Amino acid sequence: MSRLIIVSNRVAPISEGGPAAGGLAVGVYDALKETGGMWFGWSGDVPTSGQPQIRLEERGPVTFATIGLLRRDYDQYYRGFSNATLWPAFHYRADLVQYDRHEYAGYCRVNAWLAQQLVPLLRDDDVIWVHDYHLIPFAQALRSAGVKNRIGFFLHIPFPASQVLLAVPPHRDLVEALCAFDLVGFQTKPDLRAFCDYVVNEAGGTVERLPDGVARIEAFGQTLVANDYPIGVYPDEVAELAKAGERGKPVRTLKSTLHGRKVIMSVDRLDYSKGLVERFRAFERLLDQHASERNKVSFVQIAPPTRADLHAYQDIRLKLEAESGRINGRFAELDWTPIWYIHRQYERAVLAALFRASHVGYVTPLRDGMNLVAKEYVSAQDPENPGVLVLSRFAGAAQELTGALIVNPLDIDGMADALAAALTMPLAERMARYQDMMAQLRENNVSVWRDRFLRDLTQIGERRGVALPVAHAPQGEARGQVQDAR
Ligand code: G6P
Repeated sequence: MSRLIIVSNRVAPISEGGPAAGGLAVGVYDALKETGGMWFGWSGDVPTSGQPQIRLEERGPVTFATIGLLRRDYDQYYRGFSNATLWPAFHYRADLVQYDRHEYAGYCRVNAWLAQQLVPLLRDDDVIWVHDYHLIPFAQALRSAGVKNRIGFFLHIPFPASQVLLAVPPHRDLVEALCAFDLVGFQTKPDLRAFCDYVVNEAGGTVERLPDGVARIEAFGQTLVANDYPIGVYPDEVAELAKAGERGKPVRTLKSTLHGRKVIMSVDRLDYSKGLVERFRAFERLLDQHASERNKVSFVQIAPPTRADLHAYQDIRLKLEAESGRINGRFAELDWTPIWYIHRQYERAVLAALFRASHVGYVTPLRDGMNLVAKEYVSAQDPENPGVLVLSRFAGAAQELTGALIVNPLDIDGMADALAAALTMPLAERMARYQDMMAQLRENNVSVWRDRFLRDLTQIGERRGVALPVAHAPQGEARGQVQDAR
């Protein structure tokens, strides 16, 4: 069986219970453990002197290959073009896009450099799976270094509508770079549609739908395929984690502090795409308009720090601190704090247990590729007494979790009404909604996501209507001696 090589910007620190947070980390590590192979990416270090060197660490069937980034590379590639240009644009925040052509040059340079670091570690029959917006030019870089393996790309965040993407000056280069992959995967059908729309209407390419729904694309002189692959979780594993933590200290502390009050629970990185301010205001509106809920419910917002050296993130933090202070000042009583705003990270197992102890999962991003918190919240519930998910229509998860109360995060009254409905929903309806969503989560768990993507990547030759590429060559055959089908 071919090895799987995962390439992503961040290679998550793995603890006993798996990665602590982050959709990509959880989804990818679970996938890699089953197949064996290598996970290559940034170590998270920014060495101040010397040339960064690759560090290899074996963990069972998985090799972690990580490397530091020099300060200038970190600033231009990660902090700059990835997170101050692409992240806001891809989350429909053209107003927050900052563009600097030197940063874009740094982004391309770091992609090429990372690709050069990976090349000596590759075998001819490896299947390479690149993840997320930091690494859009990675296939182009590998191809220039002579790599002929199959290379797939999965975008974990939304792909924006063309009119928004046009706000990123090198939009055409970016889409051309995506077209150098053999397979490009998106979280949802709307993301796939947005990509195809750009290809046809901005790049003059063609899109043909194959009988199984996969899009065969010709653009920039390349042929590739694209499809939607909604990422999942292992719902039964999350349920086990949650159950195991039911009597643990965090849940006991929560319950004893709440004195029987209900809990609305949210967990998000402190990011402006998550709709946190709107969410806080909708909770305030609930207390305003449903006076019977005062002193009966607390809202727990866990928001671990993230990208704190970017202005937009400092800004959202200040706004959120101001809002939680204001709302608590307005409603709190000696024995009741309405909002618990916790700016730190918790382990996945603790979060699962807290989800199970909460009456409402409150997941209302302004834009989100998928949002695995929504899926983990549902998975963690007690089947005999499940909580209710209130979910933004702009999270990719809303395409599947139709048993949630779907809200528009800009509609503050609508969200307050949904919270009120969730807090008073009868058991029979909660169970029906929960069962409906669990069936969906089991049907499309993270193995299904991985298997669908890798099946399409390994069948790429047939789908593109060309001879099989070199990955079918016998192992060890020298690269270059085999006919390249591209
Ligand atoms: C999102 C992205 C991931 C990223 C994660 C954490 O989930 O899709 O690629 O790793 O956020 O962000 P950070 O900048 O800390 O890696």
